[in-house]
Amino acid sequence: MGTVYITTPIYYPNDIPHMGHAYTTIVADIMSRWFKLKGEEVYFLTGTDEHGLKLQRVAEKAGLKPKEFVDKMAAIFKDYWKKLEIEYSRFIRTTDADHEELVKYVLSELWRRGYVYKGKYGGWYCTSCERFYSSDEWVVKDSSKLCPIHLKELEWFEEETYFLKFSELTEEITRVLKEEDRVYPKQFASEVLGKLRKEGLKDLSITRPKSRVYWGVEVPWDSNHTVYVWIDALLNYLTGAGFRSDEEKFRKFWPSVIHIIGKDILWFHTAIWFALLKMLGVEYPRKVVVHSFILVKGLKMGKSLGNVVGIDDLLGRYGSADALRFIVARIFTLDKDVELTASTLDSIYNADLADTFGNLLRRVSVLTVRKLNGIIEYDEVDGEVREYVEVVMRKYSELMDNFRINEASNTLFDLFRYLNSYLNRKEPWREARPNKTLYNIVEALKYGLTLLHPIMPETTQFVAKKLGLRILKVSELKFGERVSRRVEEIPVLFRKLKG
Ligand code: MSP
Repeated sequence: MGTVYITTPIYYPNDIPHMGHAYTTIVADIMSRWFKLKGEEVYFLTGTDEHGLKLQRVAEKAGLKPKEFVDKMAAIFKDYWKKLEIEYSRFIRTTDADHEELVKYVLSELWRRGYVYKGKYGGWYCTSCERFYSSDEWVVKDSSKLCPIHLKELEWFEEETYFLKFSELTEEITRVLKEEDRVYPKQFASEVLGKLRKEGLKDLSITRPKSRVYWGVEVPWDSNHTVYVWIDALLNYLTGAGFRSDEEKFRKFWPSVIHIIGKDILWFHTAIWFALLKMLGVEYPRKVVVHSFILVKGLKMGKSLGNVVGIDDLLGRYGSADALRFIVARIFTLDKDVELTASTLDSIYNADLADTFGNLLRRVSVLTVRKLNGIIEYDEVDGEVREYVEVVMRKYSELMDNFRINEASNTLFDLFRYLNSYLNRKEPWREARPNKTLYNIVEALKYGLTLLHPIMPETTQFVAKKLGLRILKVSELKFGERVSRRVEEIPVLFRKLKG
């Protein structure tokens, strides 16, 4: 089996995380657990992007030193990821010593290789995005220039800076990004390629005067400058992989890396990141997987627009991390934005979790306890059930491998719906010998729970135990095991929500 290195963006810890951050992180965690279930060795990296003007300003506003502020916030992010059962390999912070060291090394190396020159830059900046915008990107309203994402006024900065000679790489980067599957789904590759065709790669300003942005990694050859936060941030993926600090780990996990990102940071994770790696002589990442936005009232959900949905609110409403993870899986889309409404989420919870899944488990377990004293013996395999299971397993695997988590979970729920109707058809409560029906259903549930495990880790473990099952690796699954099982009653797992 192979190795996979999965990353999320590292988030700005200017405030507590919201559902936008949870969205990417849960999906990355589901994928990481899916690959593990298939027997791959996975390294899963997430963390916080702690330097730059935005953090400097919020810390000042809070009356704290930036480091004190980010220490507090990073701890809060970790707490949230714990609550959401995010099983990361490392939580990286750009203020970690090994990372700062790597940033300095990379800058010196770029300097040494002659890719850096000094100049002047003037432009309109969005501090929320931590980037400059050009005239065909910003939005004009009442003669003000607004950031197209945050709809906040841009600020003019003009200053001395060091540039990276990216413009000479346009052709090379275009060539790589054209490769099948490098950027997924394809529409995002086309978007980047379109921009590259139109404007090419421009030389990038990679430093800030310390007098304006003191909260950053110092430029090794010029202590009056700090490193631009996006360069600092992208390099976290190399630090996490053990670049230069752990050769063996790096060889193992690079370049089999899959970056999972929102579409807002596509340009940085393709054009800019790939160009930076080219200059460093490091192989390109295997894949960049891009997802669309969660919208609230038609706008990208986010702090700046003031339409944030809180993680705690949804945890409270749906009662558990697993329920929320499942809902995220069911709304997740790569290609299209999705509007978050209470009624959509409630109906997923009610229809899938309460009515289909919870109900099935309760019926099966109660029947087994009542009719069979809780013991299911080995019995004859029903070919119809086995076939259904095998089809679902094949479809599910293929969809998951392609990050189609929403369709995958829906396919998996076809199995649970099917088992409910199988139960209705067979009526084991009337059967003289209900063992065969229940045996086949529990065999099917062994698959169902295993495949659901990456999405709902805790519930599936709990339920598996109640049914005398274990969560297995995908390759260990076999229909028709010669075993008898002790089954215990499963309580109501998901209480139906009303209005
Ligand atoms: N710090 C940079 C990323 C550096 S990565 C080297 C950054 N941070 S962020 O805190 O703004 O997080 C952006 C990411 O959060 C998005 O790319 C996406 O993964 C996630 N999302 C934030 N709001 C979101 C939505 N409304 N919808 C979907 N994803 C959202 O950019």
